[in-house]
Amino acid sequence: MKRGVNFVVFEGVDGSGKSTQVARVTEDLKERGVRVLATREPGGCGFAESLRKIILDQDRLDPWAEAMVMGASRIEHCRTTIRPALSRGEMVISDRYLGSSLVYQGIVNGIDVEEIYRLNHLSKEVLDPDLVILLDLEHPRRSSDQSTFEKRGEAFWFAVRDGYRELAKRYGWFTIDAEMEPDIITEAILGRIFDQAELQG
Ligand code: TYD
Repeated sequence: MKRGVNFVVFEGVDGSGKSTQVARVTEDLKERGVRVLATREPGGCGFAESLRKIILDQDRLDPWAEAMVMGASRIEHCRTTIRPALSRGEMVISDRYLGSSLVYQGIVNGIDVEEIYRLNHLSKEVLDPDLVILLDLEHPRRSSDQSTFEKRGEAFWFAVRDGYRELAKRYGWFTIDAEMEPDIITEAILGRIFDQAELQG
């Protein structure tokens, strides 16, 4: 992969098909001979994977406590997984990253988005991605993520959706209609990655 698109992040509401698309895009790039590391958040390294279980089992944390735990996980994810892979010349694709904190811990939990951004950048380890892809859905897909959906309810889902849309506009994230056929979505994402690689390569 040419320089410029080394770190790609997939974001989206629960049930938007992010994980499927991360797998498909990673597979396609590997077939083309690109060395890719696929990772995820919360998680992506031993420390953060251990915290993931704790975080996702919590019913309710203090909003700042939640933001800090997510931030601490991200610092270690960057330091021990993402940076080393980039240094080896690999492309990194992450299923969720800082954008999730900006939306969930920021907009939805009522903390200023800039504060969440600054909190995450208190450590110099935390990188900004080269490209953020937002898989956008108009309505929840009930069947695809019943557990999360049931746990936090419809209002929460729509608040997350609106938060993502707001930030996508603000930061120029590449937004894709996740209702489309998976093949078409994969093509669109690959097209965007190659366009950006050419522009910046
Ligand atoms: P997960 O089961 O991985 O959901 P999904 O398959 O939709 O990615 O759960 C991750 C949850 O953690 C999801 O509800 C979003 C939340 N999250 C945050 O609140 N802040 C963050 O910074 C990250 C990375 C995730």
